Amino acid sequence: MEQTNEINEAIDIPVAERRCVDDKNLKFKKKIIFLSPLLVFFFFLIGLLLKSNFKINNFMMNNSDPRILGHLPYEEVLKEDLVFIEPHIWVHKDMSRSLLSMRQDAKREGVNLVFLSGYRSIKLQEEIFYSLKSIRNQNASERARVSAPPGYSEHSTGFAIDIGDANYRETDFEVEFENTDAFRWLKMNAAKYHFKLSFRKNNRHINYEPWHWRYEGSIEALKVFETANREFINASN
Ligand code: DAL
Ligand code: ZN
Repeated sequence: MEQTNEINEAIDIPVAERRCVDDKNLKFKKKIIFLSPLLVFFFFLIGLLLKSNFKINNFMMNNSDPRILGHLPYEEVLKEDLVFIEPHIWVHKDMSRSLLSMRQDAKREGVNLVFLSGYRSIKLQEEIFYSLKSIRNQNASERARVSAPPGYSEHSTGFAIDIGDANYRETDFEVEFENTDAFRWLKMNAAKYHFKLSFRKNNRHINYEPWHWRYEGSIEALKVFETANREFINASN
């Protein structure tokens, strides 16, 4: 043997080398190659299932969404729960004292609030929605930006009030109302009397209404507006 090596070295003949192939590694690689199409198919199937599940959930959510054109449904207040404030203005009994105190305190500070619209029956809301829609040649979505469909107005609950400024009547029901003393005062003070602006600037379906305030100073009122408040909290998160 020694002799052979010596000869090889002398005449520089390459000697074949026997190496041990890692059998385990090879088997693993073969397995991966075999399984990879199956894995791809498996993940594809999972993707399909998730997608269809998402569609079903979406469908169910959309179908259980009670809103119409962005407005939540509201039941009409019972007649015996309404109180008279002044001609054409009736409101829910829970809010009448607070509303009147608010107007009185504003007046003491030189601000004259005018009540433009309080409780509206579903019947009246129907007239407002469809008659004006027709007169103004608006489709339902356009109309719903400024007026709730019947059965979907906060006004029918007796807990909503539209407010103007006695010194700037030209701003009644106009966005310009936000530049009046009345609006500035309400913005600073309305929460003390449990009133809250219902339709803010960030609402996707309904136009900004700086004149429209709702009362949330009783459990009954909070129950009525629970869904609206929950949606607002979710939207802000
Ligand atoms: N203007 C508000 C959206 C209503 O009609 O109730
Ligand atoms: Zn209103």
